[in-house]
Amino acid sequence: MMTLAAIDLAKEHLGKVLEEQLTRIDRMKGGEEETDYSQLESIIVGIIGGDGIGPFIADEARRVLEIMMKDELESGKVEFRNIEGLTIEYRAEVHKPIPDDVLEDIKQCHVTLKGPTTTPRKGDPWPNIESANVAMRKELDLFANVRPVKVPSDGIDWMFFRENTEGAYALGSDGTDVTDDLALDFTVATTQGTERIIRLAFEYASKNNINKLTMVTKANVVKTTDGKFLKIGYEMAKEYPEVEVDDWYIDIMTAKLVDPKRRTQFRVMVLPNLYGDILTDEAAEFQGGVGTAGAGNIGRKYSMFEAIHGSAPRMVDEGRAKYADPSSMIRAGAMLMRHIGYGDKADRLEMALDVCGNFEKKLVMTGRDTGSTGRDYCDYVLENVGNPELVSKWESFQ
Ligand code: IPM
Ligand code: MG
Repeated sequence: MMTLAAIDLAKEHLGKVLEEQLTRIDRMKGGEEETDYSQLESIIVGIIGGDGIGPFIADEARRVLEIMMKDELESGKVEFRNIEGLTIEYRAEVHKPIPDDVLEDIKQCHVTLKGPTTTPRKGDPWPNIESANVAMRKELDLFANVRPVKVPSDGIDWMFFRENTEGAYALGSDGTDVTDDLALDFTVATTQGTERIIRLAFEYASKNNINKLTMVTKANVVKTTDGKFLKIGYEMAKEYPEVEVDDWYIDIMTAKLVDPKRRTQFRVMVLPNLYGDILTDEAAEFQGGVGTAGAGNIGRKYSMFEAIHGSAPRMVDEGRAKYADPSSMIRAGAMLMRHIGYGDKADRLEMALDVCGNFEKKLVMTGRDTGSTGRDYCDYVLENVGNPELVSKWESFQ
């Protein structure tokens, strides 16, 4: 009896989950109007500090963008807005991953630059609410997590397209304890969700004359959802004969990123959510760590740019927040500028970050007082952006 009642409850739960997912598919089929930034009178950029080291590194990134977009800010073509309240304290108080008023503010912006937010888990002092990142990606339908990693001196030039609204994350907070002994989580792949991320990766490869695209799954074991991912990918590949396609399983892919001979052959990678989460942290490590990597969370209507790492509360507790590396957020800022139509400014900023972080290294970040502060490092980057010789300096290192 007990068991039957438990199964009935689980079935009821599954029924709700399925209904939600089918409604989501209908929304995707309807399609959302794409934002054309060139047509906007004023592009509203929201700046969200977040938790832990977030406000520190977001401030530095904002400072860079304010200098680089001075003319646009003065003319009103671009407007920056501070968005308060996406903090773990407030989220815990209202018991929501994104408080309603904060979500409203975010939706008033076309695009946001967001500092990392603390993600509670079972056993933390915070209520176990859904991650703010995950909630924002779902709420604004930011379906593509685009993460570049480059180490020119090692021949590494990778672009990851991580699916951002489905997979193990779609229902990450909606799993169920069927009985005391049986816990169940779900992973989800839809035709529409899979097609749109793989399409974006192919379009990127094709437009940038990159003739190599790699799909990463575990389709030999996770047969249904990952199988669907591969099937759709190979089908779509027929439309892009100029792009050579292969696929790897996540386990061996993780190993091959460490292989200096093999890893330089990878260029554009497309992968379901959880594999993308894991592989991009590993990838960023070659570039100098997660503190150096930015990400774009791209949707049709909204987009959000952020660091790929977490909020590092320990750095704050130990009084080391001012030594947090702002490079990740500044890179995210460069991606944001490119996304809203200022590709030339983004190129210059990325060059300056490369010069400071990969080549010249006059200042080094260590995350503690053995290295530079975020503020000084940011000034160093700005000096390079403002240097008329930046391009030749950058080229001399290639
Ligand atoms: C990331 C982060 C998030 C994720 C966390 C904070 C929920 O690790 O952006 O990669 O898992 O997606
Ligand atoms: Mg991650």
